[in-house]
Amino acid sequence: MALITHSTVPIPNQLPGTSGLRKKVAVFQQPHYLENFVQAIFDAVPALRGATLVLGGDGRFHNAQAVQTIIKMAAANGVARLVVGQDGLLSTPALSHLVRSEQAAGGIVLSASHNPGGPEGDFGIKFNAANGGPAPERLTAAIHAKTLEIREYRLSDAADVDLSRLGGTALDGMQIEVVDPVADYAGLMQRLIDFDAIAYWLKAGHRLRIDALHAIGGPYASHLFENLLGAAPGSVVNARPLADFGGWHPDPNPVYAAHLVDLMAAADAPDFAAAFDGDADRNMILGRAVTVTPSDSLAVLAANARLLPQFRDGLPGVARSMPTSRAVDVVAAAQGFDCFETPTGWKFFGNLLDAGRIGLCGEESYGTGASHVREKDGVWAALAWLNLIAVRRSSVAEVLAQHWATFGRHFYSRHDYEGLAQSAGDAVMARLRDRLAGLPGTAVQAMTVKQADDFAYTDPVDGAVAQRQGVRIEFDGGARAVFRLSGTGTEGATLRIYLERYATDPAQYGLPTQPALARVIAAAAELADLPTLTGRSAADVVT
Ligand code: G6P
Repeated sequence: MALITHSTVPIPNQLPGTSGLRKKVAVFQQPHYLENFVQAIFDAVPALRGATLVLGGDGRFHNAQAVQTIIKMAAANGVARLVVGQDGLLSTPALSHLVRSEQAAGGIVLSASHNPGGPEGDFGIKFNAANGGPAPERLTAAIHAKTLEIREYRLSDAADVDLSRLGGTALDGMQIEVVDPVADYAGLMQRLIDFDAIAYWLKAGHRLRIDALHAIGGPYASHLFENLLGAAPGSVVNARPLADFGGWHPDPNPVYAAHLVDLMAAADAPDFAAAFDGDADRNMILGRAVTVTPSDSLAVLAANARLLPQFRDGLPGVARSMPTSRAVDVVAAAQGFDCFETPTGWKFFGNLLDAGRIGLCGEESYGTGASHVREKDGVWAALAWLNLIAVRRSSVAEVLAQHWATFGRHFYSRHDYEGLAQSAGDAVMARLRDRLAGLPGTAVQAMTVKQADDFAYTDPVDGAVAQRQGVRIEFDGGARAVFRLSGTGTEGATLRIYLERYATDPAQYGLPTQPALARVIAAAAELADLPTLTGRSAADVVT
């Protein structure tokens, strides 16, 4: 077998977004498209030569071909050992764990996360560094720079590797280990979570519904919840990963998993439900007749952390992305640990986790995670919630009600304007940025703007600065509207508006969210001139 060098030319626009390079499948199928980007990774990360690389994806359309190409490129670029999930599959958190436990120099994740799959859907590729986490900005910038100067890529012309069989093999001098995607991860969960407490809770007759949305979370959930914890067979549904996710949009939120919200509203609802996204790093938590917002989920986990074996000694600190509600800040202040506010994107938690400054972190975008890996972790989040409700012997609704009674309630909602022309999205952000300096003291919808800025972040560990991370407008009394453009879409622009109001009057805690936020919603529309600049009178997706 020969290692062949192919000539190529740079392909514009291979710039990783919030979470890796995501494009339509058809874009990735263009000649040299994947190869150029993968070669750029090897060129930007020389430490991969002679080292271990972990590889796997969420099984979406194009996963199988892409895995084979990357294996041949890894061999041709001098990788010594490749650890790959059986059939090329690994959830994102399981890959993060393997990078760490195998002491790899990095990992390549094939996924477009919560974006739809299938031939018409999206594909994606992301490089994770040796800490198991998404490459930091300086590294994604270096990879992008390599895509702009690439002239050739290296590929072995060996035959495809049989990834259906577990065990070792070799390709052009590179050792390959095909591993069970679930086994190591399941062992990790058993060390972090009180399995006995959950098993006891299940034995007492409590019921679960875990919905994998036909994505990679299925095999993990089936093994953990049914085989290891003893949940009734059939508790995990849509568990078989499909290349097109069954035509669904694998994003666990009340819009794309509305069927789960309906199920939990029914009279015979199970006690607990959860769903995960395409690569199983996102999660949505539900109880009977209640859906937990991701911001509340983070705050509740922080307040109850000591109930998890993982955090028996308490938390060093927590972090949340800037648009995530400030519910966890209140917990941190009350319990006396640090709380960091980072830009959107899991990569910004990496340094804080590595430095031991935080134990728990989360984002409004249905991401919750902790120091055991360097990705958010959907299955872990469901286990952590089960751990705490089992130990507290309370329902999800009771846990939430008690949380609000102790810390107050942050009403929270995200309004998305999808498929805008890029120019319209840019115009909204430009309009807001133009107005920022004059906003403090201005009255809008009978609220007064307290402060307004374009969020900038200086990493407390390495001093890296990230600017223009979203416009924050805070009103007197604790309400807030945040504006930013999505960094994960593949068509046009998506404007996200994050709306929040803090209530400390118990009489208000039972209010429905949208009416509770009505004034903030109206203020946001007015401040950003939304009807004029977007031509829309309301958001397309409200979660
Ligand atoms: C991905 C990242 C998250 C981030 C989210 C934001 O899921 O892994 O860390 O919160 O993207 O997406 P957006 O579309 O708002 O840029």
